[in-house]
Amino acid sequence: MNMEWWKKSVVYQIYVKSFQDSNNDGVGDLQGIISRLDYLKTLGVDVLWLTPIFKSPNDDNGYDISDYRSIQSEFGTMSDFEELLDKAHQKDIKIILDLVFNHTSDEHFWFQESKKSKNNPYRDYYIWKEGNEGDVPNNWTSCFQGSAWELDEKTNEYYLHLFSKKQPDLNWQNPKVRQECIDIMNYWVDKGVDGFRLDVINLISKDESQYYVDSTIKGHQVCANGPHIHEYIQEMNQKVFSRKELLTVGETPAVTIEDAKKYAPLDNKELSMVFQFELMNVDGAEVNKWTDQRFSLKDLKQIMSRWQVGMYQQAWNSLFWNNHDQPRCVSRFGDTSSPLCHEKSAKMLAICLHMMQGTPYIYQGEELGMTNVPFNSLDDYRDIETFNSYKQLVEIEKSVSHEDMLRYMRKSSRDNARTPMQWNKEKNAGFSEHIPWIMMNPNYQTINAEAEMKDTNSIFHTYQKLIQLRKEYEIITLGKYELIMKNDENIYAYKRLYQDEELYVYCNFTDKEVSYDASILNNEKVLIQNYNQHQKGILKPYESIVFYQKSRA
Ligand code: NOJ
Repeated sequence: MNMEWWKKSVVYQIYVKSFQDSNNDGVGDLQGIISRLDYLKTLGVDVLWLTPIFKSPNDDNGYDISDYRSIQSEFGTMSDFEELLDKAHQKDIKIILDLVFNHTSDEHFWFQESKKSKNNPYRDYYIWKEGNEGDVPNNWTSCFQGSAWELDEKTNEYYLHLFSKKQPDLNWQNPKVRQECIDIMNYWVDKGVDGFRLDVINLISKDESQYYVDSTIKGHQVCANGPHIHEYIQEMNQKVFSRKELLTVGETPAVTIEDAKKYAPLDNKELSMVFQFELMNVDGAEVNKWTDQRFSLKDLKQIMSRWQVGMYQQAWNSLFWNNHDQPRCVSRFGDTSSPLCHEKSAKMLAICLHMMQGTPYIYQGEELGMTNVPFNSLDDYRDIETFNSYKQLVEIEKSVSHEDMLRYMRKSSRDNARTPMQWNKEKNAGFSEHIPWIMMNPNYQTINAEAEMKDTNSIFHTYQKLIQLRKEYEIITLGKYELIMKNDENIYAYKRLYQDEELYVYCNFTDKEVSYDASILNNEKVLIQNYNQHQKGILKPYESIVFYQKSRA
């Protein structure tokens, strides 16, 4: 079967700032990644997604780009990047870049010009609006709290920013903006990159008619999937993506399965795949992450199954449990209450996700079972979203107490995912000789790459095996998905069907022993499991097992 390479691939996301520091300034960098390519090759991943490496004032850790064609100096130089690309390619590892085109930094030349005057040639690169009776045009709030509009006193107009006020939104209705972004992408394609992750790409087409209309939902939700979005993405596809077989993954908040079918159709006219967040709302976090709310397995099964079935033979999806904006998955969906629960539940989550259809994304440190961080003070945090939310809820609205907010932050802050990679048990976990830009998770003494690579029974080896299985068994990429034991509140079980092959996946999401009906199994072999022994029909705490068999004639 001739299929696109990215359907068979496993992507590894590198949060560059926290992966490996090579020059001991406390910040990860490109040479650091080069020094860890052997590790990534051993794990077996096919593609590296680098979070933004471009010049940025770092208001939002690189998601505020001030020059799309130069490398952030703390990460290295263009020649470091070229070396990384070359060395990765020599190892048959591809690299995709993270481009942020919904907005730029306010320090980008275009915005600096744009705000100079109403008739500046760059004025129309951004979304400028007159006030509404002396106030903001409408009541949209930004993703990082507060109004999504900021007044520029000099020209007495407001600009739109769906994220921080240092991230003004670009006006994609202007054909010059579209061409600029296309030129930037072609610049990187010419350098040899293998694709792009496109930040909040489904927010770029704004509905003009809404600028003076109040809404009960947040600004970015109003702007999602706007009137010209598919034209814009198709234009990118024609002028960039179709030049080579690139992997293009669109970060697409607030999409339904019907939307996703348009963004990532199998005819490759738009993006290779979507990266959507419905599962991330299973505990309500996309609506309000600052709570103690935990997920229910029934809801989780329902959401995942709906996407598996809805996208089958229609469109392509990404599979992920976490990324740099989400808490660590073992803390959120697994169990860190004891070393045994930690190990078993981390492996169970990996098995559960990696046997599904879609392109799996491993977020750095996930393959070690890295956990949320026990920060005790607001000063330990670095993330703008966390700080702004604290300010809004604790100080302005006074709707949440300081103690409650600290607890919610330990559960949900994006910084949980951003502490440095845990390489070994030496100083700063082998990340840097210098004090890191954000504190280490103290558990690096026990959770670290060196220890796990030595131990053939580690979480790392489960991930390694899962990646190998995807390469060996086409059923994992192509098989049809069916949920089994639908109403069971403890077990997530599903099967995959492909030609005369069947896979059965059983995952116990609890710390109790539970049972399942094994009569369906016939001449089966075990592909992967997280205990050494399995008693058919029984799942021990967080046990997970995958059976493969030929279907009965
Ligand atoms: C999504 C990115 O993943 C997140 O980190 C960033 O803050 C926003 N987009 C704004 O660019």
